Amino acid sequence: MFKRLCVIGVGFMGGSFALAFRESFPNCEILGIDINPYAIDKAIQLGVIDKGSVQMNNLLLFKPDLIMLATPVGTFESIAKELSSLDLKDSLITDLGSVKGRLVYMLEEYLGENFVGGHPIAGTEKSGVENSNKDLFKGKRCILTPTQRTSPKALEKIKNMWVSLGALVEEMDPFLHDYVFGAVSHLPHAVAFALIDAIKNLSKDSVDLFKYPGGGFKDFTRIAGSDPIMWRDIFLENRENVLKAIEAFEMSLKNLKELIKSGNLQELTDYLLSAKNCREKIN
Ligand code: NAI
Repeated sequence: MFKRLCVIGVGFMGGSFALAFRESFPNCEILGIDINPYAIDKAIQLGVIDKGSVQMNNLLLFKPDLIMLATPVGTFESIAKELSSLDLKDSLITDLGSVKGRLVYMLEEYLGENFVGGHPIAGTEKSGVENSNKDLFKGKRCILTPTQRTSPKALEKIKNMWVSLGALVEEMDPFLHDYVFGAVSHLPHAVAFALIDAIKNLSKDSVDLFKYPGGGFKDFTRIAGSDPIMWRDIFLENRENVLKAIEAFEMSLKNLKELIKSGNLQELTDYLLSAKNCREKIN
């Protein structure tokens, strides 16, 4: 079905996508485009891509039938602008960025009906092509965010492509996507970064609190090891939803603080039990 794939942004996600794609479409040739020549060299060395370039206009010669945008979301607009100046009317274009909403409509403006927004709900705190994992998407959800403008044919092809990589495809409105993942993904990352900041501030000259990490602290803060540029872009691109989610969290934390302050055994137990019951419903 696909003969030539171009991945823009040959990092952890782009690399994982290329590896998974090659497994499903073994005869496909893969071109990687990245601003970092080291990432391209590494990706070729690891067999993730067949060839690479730091120049976007190399796409013209390559004539990809699929382009995957896998850079931090803050770069999407300038990349889309560059892509729109190339003649790519025969290429399907999709992305795997963590924010959709406004970005999807902006990308459509530049790229037209052959663009289909996507976000695989799979990843880790690691970045860089050297951490790529060909099995990353197997059994994981992949949210596609078509709009009224999206070509039904393009959507069908992108859907089938993700299914062949082992993902469980679900469609969602681009703005609903940002509300949902602002709450269940972006908020936990914000809290993890802030928790590390709080522990740093609670450390004193006489004691470095980071010397005593328990299992809970390590589990809870694993995601604070994620790439700062990627998360800066996500927080800013989904600013409205992230701020609302942080406010809801502040309220919950304030309620917990009041219950601890008042020492009301029953109410404090109820609060903790209700949270425990909700948590246990997640598999
Ligand atoms: P990464 O840092 O491992 O890779 C990003 C790559 O893009 C790097 O090689 C970088 O040099 C390249 N790049 C940056 N700006 C560029 C530009 N203007 N032109 C060409 N290349 C450029 O990051 P990662 O984790 O692969 O994330 C990529 C995308 O995947 C982001 O949009 C992120 O929101 C999304 N995502 C990440 C997940 C994760 O768990 N890491 C999960 C789901 C989505």
